[in-house]
Amino acid sequence: MTNLCMNFSGRSALITGAASGIGAATARLLEAGGIGTLVLVDSNAALLNAGEYSCTVQRFCGDVADPALWQTIATAVPQLDHAVLNAGIAGNGATITEMAFADWQRTLATNLDGVFLGLKLAMERLAAQGGSVVLTASVAAVRGVSSADYGASKAAVVQLAKIAAREGGPLGIRVNAIAPGGVDTPIWDQAPRFADQVARYGSRAAAITEFGKLGTPLGRFASADEIARHIGFLLSDLSAMITGTVVVADGGFSI
Ligand code: NAI
Repeated sequence: MTNLCMNFSGRSALITGAASGIGAATARLLEAGGIGTLVLVDSNAALLNAGEYSCTVQRFCGDVADPALWQTIATAVPQLDHAVLNAGIAGNGATITEMAFADWQRTLATNLDGVFLGLKLAMERLAAQGGSVVLTASVAAVRGVSSADYGASKAAVVQLAKIAAREGGPLGIRVNAIAPGGVDTPIWDQAPRFADQVARYGSRAAAITEFGKLGTPLGRFASADEIARHIGFLLSDLSAMITGTVVVADGGFSI
């Protein structure tokens, strides 16, 4: 009988941005799916070390844009079946004419360099037996709704998924991108001008609710768990013929 459940029994998965939001929810989903080993990467040591899991866990604290971090991970992690390259920061919110080059570079470093470095290691490790990778992009990759640093970094991530899918296909490696719309996670608390919206609507929850209504046919933000389930599907054997795509999970915001 066909197994319609996501089953990650005995496999190993690396997740960046694993200490919070979508990354943490994905780690929990894979744990529930029987994953054998989680390789969790994040720059927030306190949050990274706080989570307890029933499976084997390797934790690496550092900046995903730092090649030295990836050298350390490469030495300690000889085998992988899956990777979720998800660490990211909000855009700086400035217009192109107002954006400082250093601020552009800061966003590109985390959101694009960090994905490239992680993808490089994942492709090397998956080459032995195949596997699957998900890159976290954003609806800002397909609509010009963010500041240039964020939108350009996420559009590049979508293109990385396509190229990696072509290169990895003959080796049995699938690579897809997910492009969420608004998701209720702590990333919003660092987003430019979000504090103004919290003040305007009276609470963080009210600001998220109002943002969710703006231009989104489904009328709300996603939860991190909902996006994690989409990522789990793309990682799992249920999506065996899907590669090089971008799954837009935005409640219809982009249509
Ligand atoms: P979050 O802020 O809850 O989680 C992001 C995690 O990445 C944090 O734990 C943070 O410490 C880590 N991180 C940030 N920079 C890092 C670096 N240089 N090195 C290592 N770790 C780093 O945010 P969320 O929402 O879970 O974000 C995950 C991904 O989803 C990001 O790539 C974000 O751009 C993307 N996304 C989020 C949306 C949202 O509305 N929350 C919408 C579309 C995309």
